[in-house]
Amino acid sequence: MTESLSFSLDPRLKTKLFGTELPSPLILGSGTLAEHVGQIDPFLKSGAGAVIPRTTRKNMERKVHPSPHLYQTGPIRNETMINAEWTGAAIDYWRPYLEDLAKTKRIIMSISGRDISGCIDVCRELDLYGFPLMELNISCAHSNNIHGMITRNEEHIKKVIGGVKEAGVVTPLAIKLGHSDEIVQLSEIAKKSGADANVWSIVISYSFNGCRPYYQRSGNTNNCMWRSKPS
Ligand SMILES: Cc1cc2nc3c(=O)[nH]c(=O)nc-3n(C[C@H](O)[C@H](O)[C@H](O)COP(=O)(O)O)c2cc1C
Repeated sequence: MTESLSFSLDPRLKTKLFGTELPSPLILGSGTLAEHVGQIDPFLKSGAGAVIPRTTRKNMERKVHPSPHLYQTGPIRNETMINAEWTGAAIDYWRPYLEDLAKTKRIIMSISGRDISGCIDVCRELDLYGFPLMELNISCAHSNNIHGMITRNEEHIKKVIGGVKEAGVVTPLAIKLGHSDEIVQLSEIAKKSGADANVWSIVISYSFNGCRPYYQRSGNTNNCMWRSKPS
């Protein structure tokens, strides 16, 4: 990992994140742009203050990327599409690279907060490396819709943050919440439960509000969509 910048950044962009100095406040959000270790370096070299690789977890339950994986939602004639892919890698994939990633001090690991005990295990393991921050992800829209809207579930938020803190994890913790009308109250609950930071994932079309999944292929001949159940 050669994380040094390929040009000089204005030193006024320097910022501190829980005591760690970052060269800029721009952070690449977790997702498909950094699913593999080789995809990280170009972002670091281009001046991202930090990179959050794709959310990892203890076990990938889904071994294959399903097709179709685009989800069509919204009212008739005003539809929108959401990418509901299931790529990403379990902690086994990242393990050989963790030491080098942590040394950069510019990688924030994102851990799925859906399976609480798996999340605690992964956080305990990552805690040994000294990352500047860990992000517990409960924001994922398609996963939320299937698994009971955990992003808005106070009990789940308390349990996942409380569980990781009680396990003795000392790395600062952020919780990543998805779109919700109650995001401020949920952030308060997260804070009281021990979270050191909140990350809000807010994209209007990235929400599954009021929409039930309809796991059937649409009539679309390209065969790559789910549709929301017609109301
Ligand atoms: C295809 C795709 C995959 C994503 N995967 C993750 C993920 O693995 N973990 C996560 O915390 N957020 C994930 N996100 C959410 C993004 O990190 C981000 O919060 C969201 O897209 C809103 O930011 P934007 O407006 O810059 O897109 C994903 C988003 C997209 C579109």
